[in-house]
Amino acid sequence: METRSLEGQVILITGATSGIGAACARALAAAGARVACGGRRQERLAKLADEIGRDRVLPVRMDVRSPVDSRRFVDAAGAEFGRVDGLIASAGIGAYGSILDHSDDDLATMIDTNVSGTIWPVRAVLPRLLESGEGGDVVIIASVAGLRGGGHEAVYAATKFAQIGLAGALDRELAPRGIRVTSICPAATRTEFAMGYGRTPGMPELGDWLDPDDVAGAVVTVLGQPRRMRTQLWSMWSMSEVG
Ligand SMILES: NC(=O)c1ccc[n+]([C@@H]2O[C@H](COP(=O)([O-])OP(=O)(O)OC[C@H]3O[C@@H](n4cnc5c(N)ncnc54)[C@H](OP(=O)(O)O)[C@@H]3O)[C@@H](O)[C@H]2O)c1
Repeated sequence: METRSLEGQVILITGATSGIGAACARALAAAGARVACGGRRQERLAKLADEIGRDRVLPVRMDVRSPVDSRRFVDAAGAEFGRVDGLIASAGIGAYGSILDHSDDDLATMIDTNVSGTIWPVRAVLPRLLESGEGGDVVIIASVAGLRGGGHEAVYAATKFAQIGLAGALDRELAPRGIRVTSICPAATRTEFAMGYGRTPGMPELGDWLDPDDVAGAVVTVLGQPRRMRTQLWSMWSMSEVG
């Protein structure tokens, strides 16, 4: 397949302090993009920027649950790099267990982070993408849990269904204006996700799961498609999971 160069593109990434978001930052920078990296843990952002190179990374401390932070994130990237070409929405949290096991607060935080925390950054970036006239990309890191919820992840699955619904609706609305909206749906991936909330460091399955770099590779492929085509939904599994 013909690929589009990402050299000089400016891509925002939420959830860039660890796991899939951090892997996306490394992979996109290696492909020539400049990346604005968002997250709450400032020391992680600084470390990532030092590792990749301060000329290619803008670290922005932000909380995806805040529409104000989301707009500030987009504005900061535009001011620093002079353009904005896309957003990878990777911030998210999860916890395993019955819907009856979690506290009201924990469920509310998960819903706020995964649903509102996707909507606010997407809503903040779209005016920039639309006004550029060059098209743009929004990639939402959803989950296979958003295609068919497994047991003991009902509310998490509901948030991931919401992300895929958002992406599908926006894709249909915005494709005629050159904006591609993609859901990437990984199965289990070895990151800090749900550690202490149903997963434990060192659990034997981790070694067989997807690597965050596998998911980042899919993101680079999606962005690198020629602008005459788009991927709506990409589900990906390790060979160790039946699905
Ligand atoms: N790992 C898996 O098995 C798996 C499978 C399918 C889908 N996913 C999805 O992949 C995405 C990334 O997860 P991951 O596996 O990379 O987990 P991770 O390593 O725990 O990364 C989660 C990221 O989300 C950020 N985040 C959480 N709450 C936030 C908030 N309020 N504001 C800003 N950032 C926030 C965290 O940054 P701070 O804490 O620094 O803010 C962190 O960078 C999630 O949406 C998850 O649902 C994961």
